[in-house]
Parts: sequence; structure tokens; C-alpha cells
Amino acid sequence: MEKNWWKKAVVYQIYPRSFYDTNSDGVGDIPGIIQKLDYLKYLGINTVWLSPVYKSPMDDNGYDISDYYSIDPLFGTNADIEELLDKAKKLNIKIVMDMVINHTSDEHKWFIKAKADPEGPYAKYYYIQKGKDGNPPNNWRSIFGGSAWEPIEGTPYYYLHLFQKKQPDLNWENISVRTEIYKMMNWWLDKGIAGFRMDAICYIKKEKGLPSYAPDGKDGLVSASFGSLSRPGLTDILYEIRDKTYGRVNAMTVGETAGIADKDLLKFISLENGTFSMIFDFSWAELNLKQPNCFWYDTRKWNVKELKEKLFHRQKITKDKGWLGLCLTNHDQPCVADHYLEESGRNFYGQSMLAIMYLFLRGTPFVYQGQELGMRNVNYPSLLYYNDCSTYNQYNVALKAGYSLKESLKIVQVQSRDNSRSPFQWNAEANAGFTTGNPWIPVNKNYEKINVLKEKNDTTSLLNFYRKLINLRLKSEYADIFSEGTIDSLFIEEENIVAYTRSYNQKTVMIICNYQNKPVDLTLSDIAKKIIIDNYTETHSTQKKIHLQSYEGLILELS
Ligand code: GLC
Ligand code: CA
Repeated sequence: MEKNWWKKAVVYQIYPRSFYDTNSDGVGDIPGIIQKLDYLKYLGINTVWLSPVYKSPMDDNGYDISDYYSIDPLFGTNADIEELLDKAKKLNIKIVMDMVINHTSDEHKWFIKAKADPEGPYAKYYYIQKGKDGNPPNNWRSIFGGSAWEPIEGTPYYYLHLFQKKQPDLNWENISVRTEIYKMMNWWLDKGIAGFRMDAICYIKKEKGLPSYAPDGKDGLVSASFGSLSRPGLTDILYEIRDKTYGRVNAMTVGETAGIADKDLLKFISLENGTFSMIFDFSWAELNLKQPNCFWYDTRKWNVKELKEKLFHRQKITKDKGWLGLCLTNHDQPCVADHYLEESGRNFYGQSMLAIMYLFLRGTPFVYQGQELGMRNVNYPSLLYYNDCSTYNQYNVALKAGYSLKESLKIVQVQSRDNSRSPFQWNAEANAGFTTGNPWIPVNKNYEKINVLKEKNDTTSLLNFYRKLINLRLKSEYADIFSEGTIDSLFIEEENIVAYTRSYNQKTVMIICNYQNKPVDLTLSDIAKKIIIDNYTETHSTQKKIHLQSYEGLILELS
């Protein structure tokens, strides 16, 4: 594979369980992805990131793996994944797999052995320790709520789980763990996958001795992040993982990271020697929360000025030395319109403007399934419709903090991870054409208005607009500017204008977004040579003075 090939990639994230169901059991599957490869081609993307399809008890929808070498029967067979790789390859689509190695499922054979013998060799694969005076070994709070320690029944031992209790953390200090995981990752690479999205990867290095810290909540616990998130020594392990696995074959990796200090950023993502090809920059996605991993009731108001600062902050540090993963949403986040726009912008204009805003930044763009259709939050009327484990945890946390039943429901409706996990909307038939069975989670009520078939036939749809943008990014005469060019932000003082230029080989392209529900007049520094793309149909003159309408997004070539 060509060095740094991912600079010329647009990645489409598939959440398999909600994409397309072929055997009517209500759950999307790998044969479903194979059947819909033509849609991916039509959309114009060239790489897919598959959320986990490995064998799993599905406590966290596959992010709890019980066998890394097998496909879960719910999704298909190992032969199906081989067929997917094969058929995708024929269409020049690369497949990146999710890799969850901070933890396994508690049903993984290693953990079953560990529990059976808490002093034995497999116990050292995990963090298993005796409690202290009837309490867990330390006061860490799990990311999904409650103590991060679970007692092993009938013994004085506890095991550490930063996420669900069915997700025990692997002990990366143990050389046997490393050897086993490298073997497994190489096994997948040898099958021809194009790389990995590295799940929760910043948590694999724990602070030595797993110390308690001063509590940061009324529960007397402290966020596990203090002792486990981006700790010193993390990059040493990551370099080793890289060199023993994906680094050998030039595979793409994207780290799901948090807590990385600016000064350390390039260690992770420098084009020459980063631990990964890129990391996701979630700083703009999580502006509505007071801090990463905080409770969902702990939200804050934000404005475009802040978003803009975050958008360009890491671009400035990275410059031409590193590379970023760009995304508006994923399977853990609300839908784009609900998350980034006020009511007035929750339409074609607002959503197409956001697409223009992020798809041309320096980095590899990721499009989450359904984002290109304008799929929206589900807002189920009762908690019973929800499935996501963290939605239940957060609901209980809100109740405990004194919110009423109604308020707690409202809180999780806004932030629930199920917002983006409802079935993909293919057409206006029953269950949006996702399944002929009973979908594992209800389809969004708006599927008759928002679906692939309808938008395919409408030249003015968001879907067709996304196709245009993806084509511009990958295949047009400007493609090199986006993959190689430098980036400079513009109109910093204009509160609701997000704008930047990309330049390469004496050519400059300008991206301007009017991120508000009112028109604005701007004066450009140069006369535009050409209007490349506009989400409004009215024509602009190419003079220096331009008038932008509400939520207008424009891409120009400068002379
Ligand atoms: C990542 C995944 C999320 C999962 C968690 C634990 O954050 O994106 O869905 O719950 O890791 O594996
Ligand atoms: Ca199925």
C-alpha cells in the first residue's frame, strides 16, 4: 500500500447492526453490507470503517469481544467477511476494522480462566486485585457510571473495568497480553484489511499502583480518567503496537483518543513517525458537555466562535507535519442537525453548510451512516425503547442527582447513543426498508421523508449534495489541494463565519460558511476566479464583495 494513502480517503462509518438486514432477524449483517456496496460506490467514498462484528455477548453492541478471530453469528460468518473484503476490493473500497484492545468481554476465554483462578497466569491478563477493608481496591468511577471494580463472586478479589462490568480491562504491562494481541491483529491484516480504528486506545496505560485520588463527585468516587487516560508511558506501548502490527504494512489507523496535551499531539499523528495515521479530534463534537466523560446532565451552552477556535486549534499545531481524523458524528454521538444546529438550521441548508465546513479541512473526513441523508435524533417517547447501556446508566445517574423522571428522560433523549444507532433509512417501505423482520431498535418516525430512494431521485437533496462534495474532495481537479495543501483560517473576528483557505501549487481554494440564521455581507481579500460549490442556487458574482444567506456555504477558487 502506498505510504500515507489515507490522505486521499473519505471514510464511511458503518454501524453494521443498523445498516441492512438480509435474514429478517431485525439486525443488520455483513451480507447486508455486501448487498449495499453499490450504494457506497454511488456515494463516492473509498474506505469503510466497520464498527465491531466480532463474536460478542453484545453487552455494548460488540465493543465487548469474546473471540477476536470469529465473526458473531448475528452478523454472519468468517466467510462473509472474506467475501466482503473481496467484493469491496473489486470496487476499490478499503475496509478498516474496529479494534477493541483496552478490554475484552468477560466471556472471553482468558477472562473465564482468570476468574476461575485469580492467582493464576490468566489473572495477570487483567487487573485483578484483592479489595481493601471490604471496599474495592481503589475509588475509580467507571466511564459508564458506578465503581470501576467488580467483585469476583465467592473470592476476596475484584477486577477493573473502565467501561461496563462486562468489559474487563486488559493488563498491557503483561507481555503475554501484548504477544497475543499482536498475533491477532496481524492475522486480520494478513486477510487484507486496510487498517484499524483503535477503540478507547488512550486508556490502555494505567498509572502504576492504580492509586486512589481525591473524589470528584458526591458518590465519593473519582473519574477513572485520572489514573488511566493518556498517562505517561502510553506512547511507548503504542509505538510497539505500531511496529509489531500495522506499521509493517502501511495500514491506516485512527485513534479514538482523548486527553492528549497539545505538546504531545505530534507524537501521535506526525506523518513521519506518529503512533497512528491520525486521531479523531472530538474537541468540537463535545462542546455541549462541560468536560469529556462528564454526566449527560452536565451540559453547557456554546457558540460558533468557540466551535471555530476548536476547529482550527489542532490544525494550527499540526500544520503540515501531522494529520487529523475529521468527523461530525459517530455511533456514540447525537445526529448532526440536532447536535450542531439551532431549530432554524435543521434543514438542507444548515446540514449542507456543516458538510462544507468540515469535509475540506486538512485531514481524513469520516461520514457516519445516515449523516449524508440528514438522519435525525430518535427521541423515543420512553426509556423502554432505548437499548444503549450508557443511556440507562446516565438515566439513573440523572435520577440520583435529583432530576425528575421526565427531566431524566429528556436529558438522555438529547445525548443518547441510540440517536445515531436507529436503522438506516433506505426507502419509504415498512421499517424504512432496513428489515422485513422486527428491527432491533425502532426506526425513526421520519423515514418516509428522509431516505435513500427519495433523495436519490431529488437532485436538490442532501444525499446528492454530499456526493458532489465527496467527488470534489477525491476526484476533481482540486483533489490535490485538499489532500496536500496548507490551511489558513480566515475572518476570525466574524463571530458566525467559519472560513479557511487551502493552498497547493499556487492554487488557492476558499471555504466560507455563514453559520447563522441571518444573511451577512463580507469583503474578500481577492476576487474569486470561480464559484466551485454553493449550497444555494442563486449565482454569486466573483467580485470581492459577497452576500451570504442564512447557513450558506460556499467554495471558491481564488485568482
Ligand atoms: C468507544 C466506543 C464506544 C464503546 C467504548 C467502549 O468509546 O466508541 O461505543 O462503548 O469505546 O468500548
Ligand atoms: Ca440479520
